[in-house]
Amino acid sequence: MTILLVAIGAYLLGSIPFGLFLTRMAGLGDIREIGSGNIGATNVLRTGRKDLALATLLGDSGKGAVAVVIARLIGENDPVFAAVAGAAAFLGHCFPIYLKFKGGKGVATYIGTILAMWPLGLVAAGVIWLAMAAIFRFSSLAALVMAAAMPFVFLGSGRFVLFAGVFAMSLMIFYRHKANIMRLMDGTEPKIGKK
Ligand code: G3P
Repeated sequence: MTILLVAIGAYLLGSIPFGLFLTRMAGLGDIREIGSGNIGATNVLRTGRKDLALATLLGDSGKGAVAVVIARLIGENDPVFAAVAGAAAFLGHCFPIYLKFKGGKGVATYIGTILAMWPLGLVAAGVIWLAMAAIFRFSSLAALVMAAAMPFVFLGSGRFVLFAGVFAMSLMIFYRHKANIMRLMDGTEPKIGKK
């Protein structure tokens, strides 16, 4: 019962669409009608507002981290609580109740949950994302390579319960990037910061 309540709370927290709120408050209109239409930091950057993109990244990753930290406290460090809360917050971002279940791609929230699950895992995720972004300049490709690699990182570290949560989130990241994958294949995916 407790874990169900934790999952619901994490889902509601993960549902908060920071990118949408921040761009609206800045008078930039509806981010869902700009660029890729995604509510995440990469698309907020396309408005030209680096500050808002950073704030979106921090908000979207922060909600994932907070959900996992609270779950760990409630569950007395049981990794099942951490994995369930992380996945629930991530699902909240992808399918937010406040936006009729039409949300983002989950990358920042994924990163936030990893930070709170296992900080060293975030180092691996950050190195992979930054290296891919520096080489290829595609946010989506960097996220996909990171999402493909992180389950192996968790598996290799022996964190099997957390691996299950990360693996499920990675699969969803691929699913949510269907349009990006098509654009990457036909050469029309915009590079970071480009419209
Ligand atoms: O983190 C989202 C990113 O991977 C892709 O975003 O706006 O280019 O579809 P976008």
